[in-house]
Amino acid sequence: MNTIFDKALARANGYCGHFIDGAWREGTGETIPVFDPASEKRIGAIAAGNADDVDQAVNAARNAFDSRAWSTMPAADRERLLLRLADLVEAEQDEIAAIETIDNGMPYRISRMMAVGSAISAIRYHAGWPRRLTGETVPMSVPGNWHGYTTHDPLGVAALIVPWNAPFAITCTKVSAALAAGCTVVLKPAELAPMSGLRLAELVAEAGFPAGVVNVVTGLGSEAGAALVAHDGVDKISFTGSTATGKAILRQSVGDLRRVSLELGGKSASIVFADADLAKAIPAVAMGIFGNSGQVCAAGSRLFVHEAIFDRFLEGLVAFTQKLVVGPGTQEGVALGPLISGPQRDKVMGYIETGRKEGATLVAGGDAPSGKGYFVNPTIFVDTNPTMKIVREEIFGPVLSVMTFSDDSIDDLAARANDSIYGLSAYVWTTNLHNAHALAKKLRSGSVKINGSGMEFALPFGGFRQSGIGREHGRHGVEAFTETKSVMVGW
Ligand code: NAI
Ligand code: MG
Repeated sequence: MNTIFDKALARANGYCGHFIDGAWREGTGETIPVFDPASEKRIGAIAAGNADDVDQAVNAARNAFDSRAWSTMPAADRERLLLRLADLVEAEQDEIAAIETIDNGMPYRISRMMAVGSAISAIRYHAGWPRRLTGETVPMSVPGNWHGYTTHDPLGVAALIVPWNAPFAITCTKVSAALAAGCTVVLKPAELAPMSGLRLAELVAEAGFPAGVVNVVTGLGSEAGAALVAHDGVDKISFTGSTATGKAILRQSVGDLRRVSLELGGKSASIVFADADLAKAIPAVAMGIFGNSGQVCAAGSRLFVHEAIFDRFLEGLVAFTQKLVVGPGTQEGVALGPLISGPQRDKVMGYIETGRKEGATLVAGGDAPSGKGYFVNPTIFVDTNPTMKIVREEIFGPVLSVMTFSDDSIDDLAARANDSIYGLSAYVWTTNLHNAHALAKKLRSGSVKINGSGMEFALPFGGFRQSGIGREHGRHGVEAFTETKSVMVGW
């Protein structure tokens, strides 16, 4: 039998090196085993990149940038190369999705549709930017004849540090945005799910990007990641991951004021009014927290339900949740895969225990299936309040805390939703136009999604407060890899 997963396994087993200056190089250090979190079986190994490997990769990116081979290539040619990369990813999407499933654990159907599907959309979206990254002409007020205008110059070498929760989509988003801006890149995949990033490197080579424009160094965050952040040949760091690591990276970048974008954690609110379309809201609220087993920065982990519909809503939510099949992502019909690792599973189970001790009431889940794999059943707590740790802290697992609201003023409701150190996303379900717009205005989060959600690469994405700094997607996401230059020409 040679299923798509066997092919993915063979592919993953073949990697053990860095992609530097257009070629594969063996690492100079140890190797790190890589596991399938559903079976706990080893699927391969990666090179444990060290400061030497990082130095080679940054130098390759530096030379490729300084040679201007990429940034001065005609915009139409850069667009064409990005579109070719998207076509190659699309042609290989079944296998890439299978790699993502055996490495990260996400159900195959989801990795096909969401992970690889949104990666292709991101690359195609960014492919349009080289030809559209225009500055402005500016009316001048100083005496004389002047032509004033701005340009968006590429920042240089961009270090892209990616987490394990949606590795391929995040990788492709960052790589294509940086390339569209004219930067060259060094990618550091997450050690817990690195394989799809290595597959991307092969497709970059096949697409025909000049050598050194895209480099990939694998390894631990504390070693390869830290060396990349410390390297003075790096001009820009774009990081997605935990708030703690984001803060450490920002502190390390102060010395030479390196440019940093941070896409961090969240504790996003879902708000359901009595007038909401419950047939749509119930599955969306459930998948908004349980999708990817809760390992989503924008997960709707705090739910506020109007008390008039609370019983009906909760009954529907619990029934929907109990039908979600938890199991290996390689099996058909599975809705929720495992968490990424043993420590992540233990951390989530610890929060569930904390919730019980804090006095919250379990109405679904709360346990983990027995046997191999880092699974946790989707869990719903009611009788929660904002002093509880499970309501305040990012759990990054399939755990929902439910609260109610009555006819509070919109200001009070917004204040409750905003009561968090984070501010990444918010979800509102209502058919009342006033409530929808009033909350869109008052919620302190980078995104507000009303009556649905979805990955829209034309809309900026990012966080208020400790959810991050800067925005990805849209014009903002490409401009984040540039410096704005002002030019005034006397004539
Ligand atoms: P992490 O944020 O430490 O790792 C993300 C990436 O950063 C990985 O590629 C890692 O190798 C790299 N990294 C780690 N330390 C680094 C350093 N000092 N310098 C440069 N790069 C570094 O996340 P980790 O340790 O895998 O998970 C810890 C917790 O963070 C999880 O339990 C989860 O709760 C949360 N998390 C949140 C994410 C989000 O998107 N909000 C994504 C991943 C994790
Ligand atoms: Mg893995």
